[in-house]
Amino acid sequence: MEPLGATTIFLVICVSCLLFLSAWRKMSGNGKLPPGPIAFPIIGNALQLNMKNLPQSIHEVRGAKYGPVFTIYLGSQRVVVLYGQDEVKEALIDQGDEFSGRGKLALADKLSKGAGIIFSNGERWKQLRRFALTTLRNFGMGKKSVEERIQEEARFLVERLRNTNKRPFDPTIPLAHAVSNIICSIIFGDRFDYEDQKFLTLIKLIEENNELLRSVLGQLYNFFPTLMDYIPGPHQEVIKNSEELRIFVLERVKMHKESLDLSCPRDFIDAFLIKMEQEQQNGQSEFNTENLVRSTLDLFFAGTGTTSTTLRHGLLILLKYPDIEEKVHEEIDRVVGRSRSPCMADRSQMPYTDAVIHEIQRFVNLVPMSVPHAVTRDTHFRQYVIPKGTTVFPALQSVLHDSREFPKPEQFNPGHFLDENGAFKKSDFFMPFSAGKRICVGEGLARMEIFLILTMILQNFTLKSLVDPRDIDIAPQPSVVVNVPKPYQLCVSPR
Ligand code: HEM
Repeated sequence: MEPLGATTIFLVICVSCLLFLSAWRKMSGNGKLPPGPIAFPIIGNALQLNMKNLPQSIHEVRGAKYGPVFTIYLGSQRVVVLYGQDEVKEALIDQGDEFSGRGKLALADKLSKGAGIIFSNGERWKQLRRFALTTLRNFGMGKKSVEERIQEEARFLVERLRNTNKRPFDPTIPLAHAVSNIICSIIFGDRFDYEDQKFLTLIKLIEENNELLRSVLGQLYNFFPTLMDYIPGPHQEVIKNSEELRIFVLERVKMHKESLDLSCPRDFIDAFLIKMEQEQQNGQSEFNTENLVRSTLDLFFAGTGTTSTTLRHGLLILLKYPDIEEKVHEEIDRVVGRSRSPCMADRSQMPYTDAVIHEIQRFVNLVPMSVPHAVTRDTHFRQYVIPKGTTVFPALQSVLHDSREFPKPEQFNPGHFLDENGAFKKSDFFMPFSAGKRICVGEGLARMEIFLILTMILQNFTLKSLVDPRDIDIAPQPSVVVNVPKPYQLCVSPR
């Protein structure tokens, strides 16, 4: 029995390999699907791709022989990669509608169940995205503008940093608290005290989830969900944490309902509840409690880790280059002075600082593959046809690190965004927020946060490294989700 069993299994594997290879040849051989390395049944290209550093692996596949548009298989999921500025722009902007779908990520699908903004599609996505964009723009709504909310929070952060009394500290938590509080004030109507236990738990859950999603097992879940469901590991924690976050938001929604004044929305949740009232008779409306909770969580989640990681990485880069920090100090002193907080109107007079911030975002390459897209119908792209529903990775890293635009892209150089007269120079290759119909909803907010928080910190402090700046490694620690800097500590010395 035993040898026969083994032979049967061997034969079944061989036959399925042959079937898969012939299907694969049929798909790519007739010039329809973009080319790519041979994939194996079930595991796809997992053996050729380094899951610990998928962006780098993808970079190598592109370099191998397949050109800027190619197909890989992550598990059984087919992914078309767009690797180059022309390709990303052509797809996301020129063929924006077709490439505006959201690709499948099993873990995200499991958590969001297609609700909310980031992982929804079709009419639901359109309604919720439009609403989020207008509501974020109006925040103004209530008493304070977004700019004032950010300035207020930046002042709290500066106080907290002052209280370190020149002692070394890891900036991760203070930055996450400050950035998260800004989004809290927009969503929930108010900021939290830095000692508030609920707030601390909330941030801890988000930080934990970010960490778990970045782990290899967390990433593997997205491509081998059926298998991973049976394996204990970090992905199970993510699910548990997310449920806690959901319950927190549900409680807040309940509190808002009890004190809602239809004529005077205080925050995003109020605005959504009012929209739900207005659309009660509309059978096609996507404004319901589930989408409210998920949209709130989306903004909270997308709005916390991204900006605070960029700032954390930015400070590390400035520690390595004290001469660059010094030039930013000079510009702040000249344009803003010491007696008032920086404001957005200052930015146009601060080309060097603006260039440093752009270069930080370019160098950090925060979301190297963007969030996966999908094509909404069978799509002709160049000489290929990409079948409806296929996942697409628009490789933002290939745009941000394109040497045609940024000579020596692996080096940090604010000159990438300055012309010969020292004026700020825009670049079409600056795409950390992606492009087209899915472009980051929080771009305006994030850019304000980064400018105001960074300038407020540097107006008040000089950064001090604990090690020789030459030994600081500023290279991003790669992940298919979000790049982060190596952990570090610093001191800040009042100016
Ligand atoms: C430095 C900060 C940030 C970066 C680099 C960033 C980057 C991105 C990227 C690359 C995407 C994917 C776009 C695509 O699908 O092609 C995205 C989507 C999104 N971001 Fe951001 N983001 C940042 C901050 C924020 C903030 C502060 C918020 C919240 C207010 C936010 C909310 C969102 C939402 C809701 C989406 C989903 C858009 C959709 O699916 O239509 N992001 N972001």
